[in-house]
Amino acid sequence: MSTTRKRLFIKTYGCQMNVYDSDRMKDVLTPLGYESSDTPEGADLVILNTCHIREKAAEKVYSELGRLRPLKDEKAASGGMTIAVAGCVAQAEGAEIMKRAPVVDLVVGPQTYHKLPELIAQAHRAKGEALDTEFEVEDKFDRLGSDRQVEGYSAFVTVQEGCDKFCTFCVVPYTRGAEWSRPVDQIVGEIRALAAKGIREVTLLGQNVNAFHGAAPSGREADGPWGLGQLVRHIALIGGIERIRFTTSHPRDMDEDLIQAFADTPKLMPYFHLPVQSGSDKILKAMNRQHIAADYLATIARLREVRPDIAISGDMIVGFPGETDADFEATMELVREVNYASCFSFKYSKRPGTPGAAMFNQVDEAVKTERLAALQALLDAQQIAFNTSMIGKTLPVLFEKPGRLDGQLHGRSPYLQSVHANAPAELIGQIAEVEIEGASRNALSGRLIGPKRSAA
Ligand code: SAH
Ligand code: SF4
Ligand code: F3S
Repeated sequence: MSTTRKRLFIKTYGCQMNVYDSDRMKDVLTPLGYESSDTPEGADLVILNTCHIREKAAEKVYSELGRLRPLKDEKAASGGMTIAVAGCVAQAEGAEIMKRAPVVDLVVGPQTYHKLPELIAQAHRAKGEALDTEFEVEDKFDRLGSDRQVEGYSAFVTVQEGCDKFCTFCVVPYTRGAEWSRPVDQIVGEIRALAAKGIREVTLLGQNVNAFHGAAPSGREADGPWGLGQLVRHIALIGGIERIRFTTSHPRDMDEDLIQAFADTPKLMPYFHLPVQSGSDKILKAMNRQHIAADYLATIARLREVRPDIAISGDMIVGFPGETDADFEATMELVREVNYASCFSFKYSKRPGTPGAAMFNQVDEAVKTERLAALQALLDAQQIAFNTSMIGKTLPVLFEKPGRLDGQLHGRSPYLQSVHANAPAELIGQIAEVEIEGASRNALSGRLIGPKRSAA
């Protein structure tokens, strides 16, 4: 098939699952002659892969579409520019987007982007009709296949999609649909192909990744569906894969087998993201998180028991409807007790169609701002203390690329900290021992001790 070369610009918002989806959209479009470009100027196809999680995230899409308009007009004389909106705003707002922003030619949801070639052709034939926001997750992964274009040494691999939890603040169950897990054989096929291309670290992704229950590999169907712990151990056997991570987990789906995987699988990194959102039982109930603060703390304690070097990260929301000073103080107390290595924190944002948006006891914006500042000051101090505690330790670092200074390389510690060290370029793509000498909030620096070929 002969193809003319065309330029593709994809802008990705939101979570790592969108990063994975953007990569896979590129894979789907490469056979049509599309080559990635770093800027939208002069592109034949622009895709905005959007996020709907907070109000600001969704608004960004419309302002970006405004900026694209003049570029599309300029390109009209030389083949034209096709503008696509993908991702969670596409799923949530569908046809509304084309009405509100006529510059958009096509809208595609997170479960149907494998059909982009057909949708692009359709948009060229009849503008306004190219919209696909069905939920067809099985079809998607079958059609995508395992051949991916990758760069570097670390890759995301989606293993689970969707969410049935319906936390009252969250849009994800509406934008990503019901929970669904990929079969183990399909995941392993994709990771083997990645390892053959030099990937050393995989991060398994899912909106509720620890709810994973994928069909057992062929020949072992009688075992029933596999949980995430089994999957992790199986991936640890794939030659070339040295580090495994997974995100995002829900406290309700933590089982003992997964906790044990941290103990018995050294390739599973000792860094675990477990969002809790609030430390107040009343607010956790109103959020429909289906657990209390003590359950979360017990899980963290158990993880630390089986893997003493484990570090914890999390997500917090301040100013959920009904949150009083005392509820907020319970959050601060939980944070003090957990002592996070790192934690994201957000002001509650009302999302259309979620139960939280209809609650009458919304918290004042000024109060949210004040609470967020207090929480972030505490979290920043914990992060700095965690990074500083690395000084004097020797950490295995996966070197990924040259650093900013001559002779320096940049890599990642088991805790995902950025690490800079003077090291020969041959170590790029390898794990080496670095003695940590300096620490700031966002990075570590150290001295190369020697190459090492183990995971953690
Ligand atoms: N599936 C994950 C999180 C997905 S969304 C989980 O269950 O933990 C990522 C984070 O965004 C959430 O953990 C939450 O902290 C934040 N978030 C989601 N909806 C939000 C909203 N309406 N307002 C503010 N933050 C929100
Ligand atoms: Fe959203 Fe809750 Fe599902 Fe996480 S578990 S994606 S916060 S509904
Ligand atoms: Fe955003 Fe959708 Fe991810 S709403 S956080 S891009 S699942």
